[in-house]
Amino acid sequence: MAFNHKHLIDITEYSADDIMTILETAKTFKQVNERRIKQVPTLKGVTVVNMFNEPSTRTRSSFEIAEKRLSADSLNFGGSSTATVKGESLVDTVETLCAYKIDMIIVRDKHAGVPRKIADVSGAHVIDAGDGKHQHPTQALLDLYSIWEVKGDLNGLKVGVVGDIGHSRVCGSLIPALKIMGCEVTVIAPPTLLPARPDILGADHVTSNLNEALPELDVVYMLRIQRERFEGAPYPNLREYNLLYGLTKDREHLMKPDALICHPGPINRGVELDSLMADHPRRSIILDQVYAGVLVRMAALYLLLGGSNDGIDA
Ligand code: CP
Repeated sequence: MAFNHKHLIDITEYSADDIMTILETAKTFKQVNERRIKQVPTLKGVTVVNMFNEPSTRTRSSFEIAEKRLSADSLNFGGSSTATVKGESLVDTVETLCAYKIDMIIVRDKHAGVPRKIADVSGAHVIDAGDGKHQHPTQALLDLYSIWEVKGDLNGLKVGVVGDIGHSRVCGSLIPALKIMGCEVTVIAPPTLLPARPDILGADHVTSNLNEALPELDVVYMLRIQRERFEGAPYPNLREYNLLYGLTKDREHLMKPDALICHPGPINRGVELDSLMADHPRRSIILDQVYAGVLVRMAALYLLLGGSNDGIDA
């Protein structure tokens, strides 16, 4: 099937067919990742800039691994080691990089809208690796992939997204992506951690009662409490938050026998997620999500740079 996107910035620009193409391509790349020599020449001669202006473990490392496994050349760039600390503007920085005839920029930035701005001023392909509180589309894709691998079908699944919705860029991509794929989405959060207009999230239901919502859910997606983005105190203390909104072992009896636990990472253990649930051998797919990060990012790089899912050079 034709894949006609230059950028991956806003998941709402992608159809269910586009998303399925990415998931199926990611699955194809699994066999590359399970060989002894985990590399194919598919993107030989392609230059990808990883511009990370905010901390990252999973997204940054999995993009780098994905690029290496596809034989692309990577330039790792960003943060306090660049000329932006001398006052260089974003546009001048991007134009400088593009003068090297690079092909793609992967960008993480604390400001919402930076990936779109880069796409507007450069001729390069752009992937949003997380911008402010706005979007994180490859996170949503790896989440969908991980759930799809276990459940077999996304359509009709009941997914609860729990916790710090108001500060979450993961939600900005995940909720629309789940809806595009036919899931029923419930947002579960204290009112102080919801945006002012929860209706614009696009979820089917919004509630503050985790215990009431849990028995219905096929997937429980726990969000990180983003203390670095708080202004004031949205809950009295972490213990109370864990008591009311944490996925604790005491709550497991409320879950369906086959309900899955997801988390984008990094986890605040003992806050939104107790260790016994984060490491639950049957329910937790958190490390599968991490692995899916490489597969989905290989697929996104490959498809955006002109590949088709029926012609992988493996
Ligand atoms: N999930 C996620 O974006 O993690 P990192 O901040 O470690 O990249």
